Amino acid sequence: ALYGARPSNILIYGQTGTGKTAVAKFICKQIVSKAETEGKKIHTAYINCKQTNTPYGILTNIGKTYSNDWEDKVPNAGWRIDKVYSALKEKADEDGGIAIVILDEIDTLVSKSGDDILYHLTGLNSDLDNSKISLIGISNDTKFTSWLDPRVKSRMGEESLTFAPYNALQIENILVQRAKMAFHEGAVEPLVLSYCSSRAALEHGDARKALDLLRISAEIAEREGKEIVTVEYVSKAENVMEHDLVRSLISTLPLQPKVTLASIILNRGSKENGQQTTGEVYNTYSLICKRFEVEQLTQRRVGHIISELDMQGLINAKVVSLGRQGRTRYISLSIEQSQIDGALDNDSFLSRVIKEIKMSGYLSSMQLRLI
Ligand SMILES: Nc1ncnc2c1ncn2[C@@H]1O[C@H](COP(=O)(O)OP(=O)(O)OP(=O)(O)O)[C@@H](O)[C@H]1O
Ligand SMILES: [Mg+2]
Repeated sequence: ALYGARPSNILIYGQTGTGKTAVAKFICKQIVSKAETEGKKIHTAYINCKQTNTPYGILTNIGKTYSNDWEDKVPNAGWRIDKVYSALKEKADEDGGIAIVILDEIDTLVSKSGDDILYHLTGLNSDLDNSKISLIGISNDTKFTSWLDPRVKSRMGEESLTFAPYNALQIENILVQRAKMAFHEGAVEPLVLSYCSSRAALEHGDARKALDLLRISAEIAEREGKEIVTVEYVSKAENVMEHDLVRSLISTLPLQPKVTLASIILNRGSKENGQQTTGEVYNTYSLICKRFEVEQLTQRRVGHIISELDMQGLINAKVVSLGRQGRTRYISLSIEQSQIDGALDNDSFLSRVIKEIKMSGYLSSMQLRLI
């Protein structure tokens, strides 16, 4: 691109944590510094479409890379979009350089605002007389192009690139490099780095996971006043990360699954091993619905919700045969008490439901254990 050829538009795919964003930003920097030394005009815009997902916002971001006074000339909102587009085209031609625009998480842009903006941006090159623009779209959803208009699809995906997951060794290299920057020498046992890497490699080669593990291990060690991060702390960090996951999973549950889960938490203790049947869950569920004015679903629908909670790994629902009486499910929680406590701290509705129903004494006949 530095030598005048029109650069292709590129789509980059890859699972989370495989370095797409890091590499794209790095390459941009390289291009800019090369352009500087060679006295060529090049502009780069990095746009995270999770944050900026309106056509107006995208055009503004690109416009700003051409000139500092873009914001003075073009208001942040209010113009018709084709007017902004023309302003951008004019600026680009006046400048005569090349723009490389990275649209990270491009699938969010398409799902929020459709593909019109991509249609216009990819068409910009034929409108421009004196300058060029290249789009780099990044996504971890390989199927998002099936949403695109075929013309946009072929223009956007002139080239495509897939980032393979990192293997354990590659992740370890990244960690070693980062650890050197972040820690005093000897503060991290070498085994810690290979342990974090192998855990992350198991998780589809997610370098971010390894970095998070290392960071959290070090935080825990520091909190406990230790000078050296040992493997023991990585296990602790894994526990913490899993708890966080469960906590956010529970707090983002829709109302009905949340009430169903609350029923299961409340019922636990009324049976050996905390196991309960769908009917028992439904009784408590109905009570909560009445008391908290939640729409009451049929037992059958609640049965489906129980299956969903099972699939999410929050509960365990095992089908057992009762001989002639047919079959039922034995339902139990598959998360630990500390995870429940964490979830309750984090979710005022859930904790209110559990506290009030417990206080109401309804469940005392069920030999309720302390929750
Ligand atoms: N080759 C690398 N060298 C150094 N650090 C890297 C490398 N690859 C990834 N990382 C680091 O790993 C983390 C995750 O990488 P990155 O954010 O690029 O992933 P991604 O593929 O964009 O993921 P997502 O799809 O979730 O956006 C970042 O902190 C990044 O700095
Ligand atoms: Mg990314």
